[in-house]
Amino acid sequence: MKKSQVIWFLLISLTTSLAFPFIGNANEVFVSEAQQNNHIRALAASCAACHGTLGNAVDNNSRSNADEGNATLAGIDVEEFKTKLLGFRDGSLKSTVMHHHAKGLSLDEINQLAVHFSQQKHIVTAPLKPQTLKAEYD
Ligand code: HEC
Repeated sequence: MKKSQVIWFLLISLTTSLAFPFIGNANEVFVSEAQQNNHIRALAASCAACHGTLGNAVDNNSRSNADEGNATLAGIDVEEFKTKLLGFRDGSLKSTVMHHHAKGLSLDEINQLAVHFSQQKHIVTAPLKPQTLKAEYD
């Protein structure tokens, strides 16, 4: 190979390897911060059905599922969150549903979800009073 060909070869290898991280969506692949934020927010939204909007569970202001309703995750301690999720993931922490959710998460996602939920404001909610609905008949 000529010297100029070698230089071109090196230049092309370098630029293509730099460009590759933007293709694909495996965990190891670089994604921009905004994309990563959206990914984590989408994951966190999937927890809302049970743990409430932005981690504020309805009718349960505690961190534990042992109380009525599902645990509140808003404002949770980062280490506590990680320990629980990792426990659910490896089966050392017994659960009815959480092992399914935790198994689908990478370590990186767990770490970022921990930060996400720890930063949410814990809003203390009062249980709704039972309502007596009056039907009016003509
Ligand atoms: C289908 C309902 C459901 C969904 C969705 C769900 N969870 Fe849970 N979560 C539970 C239940 C029920 C428990 C109690 C453990 C068990 O029995 O699985 C729990 C427990 C937890 C706990 C421990 C609370 C405690 O008692 O100490 C954490 C932390 C947690 N979930 C985080 C998450 C995260 C993060 C997501 C979203 C990726 C999520 N959960 C999605 C139902 C759910």
